[in-house]
Amino acid sequence: MPADVILRLPLSLAIYMVEGYKIITVTHKSADLKDIGSYVLPNDGEESVHSRLRRFKNRMGIDGLMYLATCNRVTYFFHSSSFLDQSFLNSFTRFFYPDSDTLTASNNYLVFQGEPALRHLFEVASSVDSLVVGEREIIRQLREAYGVCRKEGLTGDKIRLAMDATVRTAKQVYGGTRIGEKQVSVVSLAVKKLLDAQLPNDARILMVGAGQTNALFTKFLVKYGYSNVSVYNRTLEKAQALADSLGGQAFPLSRLHEHQGGFDALVVCTSSTGPVINSESYPLLLAGETDSKIVLDLSIPNDVSVDVVADYDFEYIDIESLKALANENLKFRSTQVHKAKAMVELALEEFRSLYLEREVEVAMRAVPEQIKQVKSKAMNEVFRKELDELDEPTKELLDRMMTYMEKKCIGIPMKAAKKAILD
Ligand SMILES: NC(=O)c1ccc[n+]([C@@H]2O[C@H](COP(=O)([O-])OP(=O)(O)OC[C@H]3O[C@@H](n4cnc5c(N)ncnc54)[C@H](OP(=O)(O)O)[C@@H]3O)[C@@H](O)[C@H]2O)c1
Repeated sequence: MPADVILRLPLSLAIYMVEGYKIITVTHKSADLKDIGSYVLPNDGEESVHSRLRRFKNRMGIDGLMYLATCNRVTYFFHSSSFLDQSFLNSFTRFFYPDSDTLTASNNYLVFQGEPALRHLFEVASSVDSLVVGEREIIRQLREAYGVCRKEGLTGDKIRLAMDATVRTAKQVYGGTRIGEKQVSVVSLAVKKLLDAQLPNDARILMVGAGQTNALFTKFLVKYGYSNVSVYNRTLEKAQALADSLGGQAFPLSRLHEHQGGFDALVVCTSSTGPVINSESYPLLLAGETDSKIVLDLSIPNDVSVDVVADYDFEYIDIESLKALANENLKFRSTQVHKAKAMVELALEEFRSLYLEREVEVAMRAVPEQIKQVKSKAMNEVFRKELDELDEPTKELLDRMMTYMEKKCIGIPMKAAKKAILD
């Protein structure tokens, strides 16, 4: 074999070797969001999720496996020498989703093998593949999923190696691009608007509605130290729960027109189909005050009536303007995707060498024992007669020399193999 072929061999070998990595996944790109939930493994049956995964791993001769379920993806990442063909996919479907038709289920799968599987994993972790590009939550979810599967003894060395590289790559992408900058959630943008108004911490905040959106908004109020909050809601208990988390006060929505003490910021978000704040209630809430107010209306349809917006002078921020801002910010994040993908390609290149290095390391584990055996055979069998004829000091010297050689020889193949990979 010509010398240049020998030098090029490790890289092509590495590409071939990472063929063992596989992904079967259902994501927002392959299925309707509403259908993804049906691929999440239930944890309430007779058998736990991890016990099912373990049975599948053993049945299919998989050497490492992890499973991730979020609201927009279900992913099986594993390492196996089996080829991911239709027959494998059918066995997979029959095992995990026995009530599904194998063909219909397969149509919802995205399947990756070898380097494309690693690329997909790196891109998922770097939020390039996310429904909302730049959402860092995915890296936390991935790490948590890996941690749980590792504890359950499902993962193994190959998955560990890939996950270490995945986390490293994601960190490089978040740090080396602006993909996670600029908020894209309506609530965080609304909070930013409130903070931009630079209201003091004792500002009077009037909150109408106590659903999920306002509950999330409340968490930010707590974070930024606002507690002078009055919460009005149709169901008093829910208003009370939010008020308690802030140290504020709760009232039934029916008493909104009796509100005392004015406000600096009004945050309104209900599922009412008609305006909750109208030209009758708004002047009562103002309590005669004429200073500048900020009104955040996060409802669809809007909760503040059109005539109130037209007739009164306040900074009005509605969900449409926040959504427009969110879209603008999302567009900005998308401009970072090509840079992120280039970083992923570099990381893949690095991973190939790393993988091969690790393979060599594992293979070399046997070398010290083999060298010991060679020494023992030389002393006890091959040169036994000659050694028996030597005097004690010479025998001792020979033994010391052999031990020295043994120690020095152990490192040589390892160094040579690593050098071949790096070259
Ligand atoms: N998709 C988005 O990005 C997004 C983001 C932010 C806001 N929103 C909008 O925010 C609104 C609320 O969403 P959510 O997720 O917070 O809903 P949610 O968790 O279902 O809460 C609904 C809230 O509205 C109240 N409500 C329902 N019907 C009412 C009525 N006829 N009169 C007065 N109050 C009524 C409920 O009071 P009870 O507690 O008494 O039931 C509760 O406080 C919706 O308009 C939604 O479209 C959407």
